[in-house]
Amino acid sequence: MTNRPQMTTTGGNPIADNQNSKTAGSRGPLLLEDYQLIEKLAHQNRERIPERAVHAKGSGAYGKLTITHDITKYTKAAIFSEIGKETQCLLRFSTVAGERGAADAERDVRGWALKFYTDQGNWDLVGNNTPVFFVRDPMKFPDFIHTQKRHPRTNMRSATAMWDFWSLSPESLHQVTILMSDRGLPKSLRHTNGYGSHTFSFINAERERFWVKFHFKTLQGIETMTNEEGEQVIAKDRESSQRDLYEHIEKGDFPKWKMQIQVMPEKDADTYHINPFDLTKVWPHSDYPCIDVGILELNRNPENYFQEIEQAAFNPSNIVPGIGFSPDKMLQARIFSYADAHRYRLGVWYEKLPVNLPKSEVNTYHMDGSMNFSKPSSSDAYYEPNSFNGPVENHDFDEPPLAISGDADRYDHREGNDDYTQAGNLFRIMSDDQKGQLFGNIAAAMGGVPENIIRRQLGHFHKADPAYAAGVARALEMDFDANNISVQEESSAL
Ligand code: NDP
Ligand code: HEM
Repeated sequence: MTNRPQMTTTGGNPIADNQNSKTAGSRGPLLLEDYQLIEKLAHQNRERIPERAVHAKGSGAYGKLTITHDITKYTKAAIFSEIGKETQCLLRFSTVAGERGAADAERDVRGWALKFYTDQGNWDLVGNNTPVFFVRDPMKFPDFIHTQKRHPRTNMRSATAMWDFWSLSPESLHQVTILMSDRGLPKSLRHTNGYGSHTFSFINAERERFWVKFHFKTLQGIETMTNEEGEQVIAKDRESSQRDLYEHIEKGDFPKWKMQIQVMPEKDADTYHINPFDLTKVWPHSDYPCIDVGILELNRNPENYFQEIEQAAFNPSNIVPGIGFSPDKMLQARIFSYADAHRYRLGVWYEKLPVNLPKSEVNTYHMDGSMNFSKPSSSDAYYEPNSFNGPVENHDFDEPPLAISGDADRYDHREGNDDYTQAGNLFRIMSDDQKGQLFGNIAAAMGGVPENIIRRQLGHFHKADPAYAAGVARALEMDFDANNISVQEESSAL
């Protein structure tokens, strides 16, 4: 007998033999009473859980945010309360379109999902490595994602679907330009920036509201790959991002990012020439400069990928006092969508899983439900209000009221919106080499797309910058007549 632990069933019954199934005679058949075998096979059948509907392939690690600058005049959030304050966090990176087994080195937006375990509950900042997004109205999100996933008949991804949707949705142009630029294929996760993307709100101790955007600038430097370099990587290694992140953290070379914010006083939103709640737009740095906040460092790999990364549930609805939402329609929809996804993917008590459990006290009156393994602190205080010392609300955490105006209606989010200036600004700050990569990447991504769709998209590039359309047309070896391109043709609206 060794002093190693006794192997048991999940019911704790000691297992005598884990090598041989129980049979009638040495040649079989099996006996139904071999519960150890039945339990083993049944568990195996349930090892997979639904993968995330988007962002299924990911890599994650733990770390900390250390505050280096005082921003308490903008927010009372405990995480920013003093210089030197450290807060533990989890960061999961992902690609958007591919399934759980997809190759890492693909051209795609990288998800950037942060969970800060703050003194006042979890703050989840679920962004991307881009400051903007493809659509500005959540009504369009499922349609957009369908174009990124597999075609229902061919079971392959469809370049036609992507460019058809994008060319009929000019609000996507800014993000498409980033995706097709050199930064659309990062060399590693350590070499990319992160953005909260949406506009959020900050509330300070005087109950003043500010609008805020979050940025994380890589201190490893931006490094990217060409399509050809990416293909070389994938040929040898489908897990290149996972490997790079895991190995660097394992050897103590901890990746770091500088956290910065852009801050807009609440009232500026009424008069600023850009709708600050439009997710397809950035706030130019010259208008709202970046303010240093702290350093984010990743320094610990998870012990068990499934438990800590696959079961991680990031949720834009997790905010803490001093940080709030904004009217951004996309953010508003995400407040619903993520918790709903988690209840389906992980179960109603997903926040009780160790990786999701806040480090601060949790007191709710939710009851029962599947797999509930915790009980309320008092068995009499199971409703609210009560006379039995149950947890109570605290109006100190009330947010200041937010003025809103207008008639309830379905407003055309494409009407009167400038989808071209910022995409063009990005094009114009690119070096000649970056522009060349942009043209080539777009041409490569348009393989097999019908000409009328390509021409419609060229019209959008032209509106952003004539040199943008001309460059793409050159890369496509197409004739290009700027006067003969209609961006309005073939709308999906009847
Ligand atoms: P700035 O010159 O002040 O900023 C340019 C920004 O562009 C920098 O943040 C830079 O990031 C980033 N950038 C450079 N190349 C790329 C690329 N291929 N893909 C994505 N980002 C890139 O100008 P503005 O603030 O006036 O913005 C001009 C354009 O820059 C915008 O239209 C937008 O497309 C892009 N941009 C702006 C951001 C913002 O918050 N204002 C944030 C990110 C991009 P880095 O500092 O890491 O080099
Ligand atoms: C994942 C919905 C827009 C970033 C997800 C998931 C859903 C979802 C359902 C899977 C969640 C899970 O199973 O755990 C939506 C909807 C959107 C939207 C409805 C718009 C209305 C965005 C935007 C961003 C973003 C704008 C970034 C700015 C992410 C990231 C993940 C994710 C990073 C992966 C989180 C993780 O690592 O677990 N999204 N999304 N999404 N989404 Fe979105």
